[in-house]
Amino acid sequence: MSSLRPVLIAALCTGAIAAMPAAGAAQAHRASFGALSDGTRIEAVDLSSHAGIRVRIITLGARIQSLYTPDRAGKSGDIVLGFSSPQQYFADGNYFGATVGRFANRIGKGRFTLDGHSYQLSVNDHGNSLHGGARGFDKRVWKIDSLRGGASASVVMSYVSPDGEEGYPGTLHVTATYTLSDNGELRIDYRATTDKPTIINMSGHSYFNLASSPAHFSTMRDLLQINASHYTPVDSVLIPTGSIVPVANTPFDFRKPTPIGLHIRDGNDAQIRYCHGYDMNFVLDGRPGGTPRLAARVEDPRSGRVLEVYTTAPGVQFYSGNFLDGTIVGKHGIVYRQGDAVVLEPQDFPDAPNHPNFPSATLRPGATYHNVIVYRFSVRR
Ligand code: GLA
Repeated sequence: MSSLRPVLIAALCTGAIAAMPAAGAAQAHRASFGALSDGTRIEAVDLSSHAGIRVRIITLGARIQSLYTPDRAGKSGDIVLGFSSPQQYFADGNYFGATVGRFANRIGKGRFTLDGHSYQLSVNDHGNSLHGGARGFDKRVWKIDSLRGGASASVVMSYVSPDGEEGYPGTLHVTATYTLSDNGELRIDYRATTDKPTIINMSGHSYFNLASSPAHFSTMRDLLQINASHYTPVDSVLIPTGSIVPVANTPFDFRKPTPIGLHIRDGNDAQIRYCHGYDMNFVLDGRPGGTPRLAARVEDPRSGRVLEVYTTAPGVQFYSGNFLDGTIVGKHGIVYRQGDAVVLEPQDFPDAPNHPNFPSATLRPGATYHNVIVYRFSVRR
């Protein structure tokens, strides 16, 4: 940075700002992130931008391991939950920061039928299949295909899921591309192709804590907005009933910025009781596909940090970290407790293969699955 200063001063003096060298060039670097207990090496990629944002993505689960953004005062803080070693991620079942798949969220009893064939997936959650089954994408070691710096910094990671893995049909080639731009955006592109008809639903499972301070860790005062007029209710083991109901006059109406904690203890609502808080799929307003549209916005009034989530997906799962029970010690020595994070997972609807009225999650040979998630970071002064 210091070597750029004379250039900047010269540019300011001559008014030649537009012709300046790429002072804000975003950077991508590769580093080691240690090894699993069987010796498998895990790598990290650090992307940094001129906007003061730094993100670390590791090859175990193509996951976000840390994400630093400035607060209102310009102080940088890590705003995602997670661990500092690969083995901790491998042993944990919370999907911190992970790419989840093949199928994000639940498939009832792990069963579905496609083109007249019945499939049984591996089950790992009350007899249902959650986030890809016993060993989903989050526990696989991805390959780094390419790395790029410049106007934006990006990394492409890939994984080949063999035919029959966790019970899913088709050899699936998947990529997760992370792109950090100088305008305060981190974009994730998930893509997949298959050699047999199959189902697919990939999402990002970052646990955001915009306060980034152990003294104010609860997210209950964060203001959440979700652009959804409907949601998909679930049964007692969190499988969608198949109905799509309005959020109006329910604890699920986040169409205007609302403190997360306002209705989270509404014991009269069976959905809140089943989920121990929020853990459901919202049906996003507007048309899926095409240009990513604003799905949700979170604001931490104390730090001023604002996160906006854009996506091409039809739904977003809002999970309020209900299973964090104080037994996990994460990065920076912080104990994670219920309600310590906001998880927003843009996705196809959970259990879509078993509900013909939900948007289809089928992928056929020759087609490319594509889900775009954009996190836009800013501060409110
Ligand atoms: C998703 C699910 C939750 C939970 C978390 C991981 O958000 O909907 O029920 O399984 O993942 O703990």
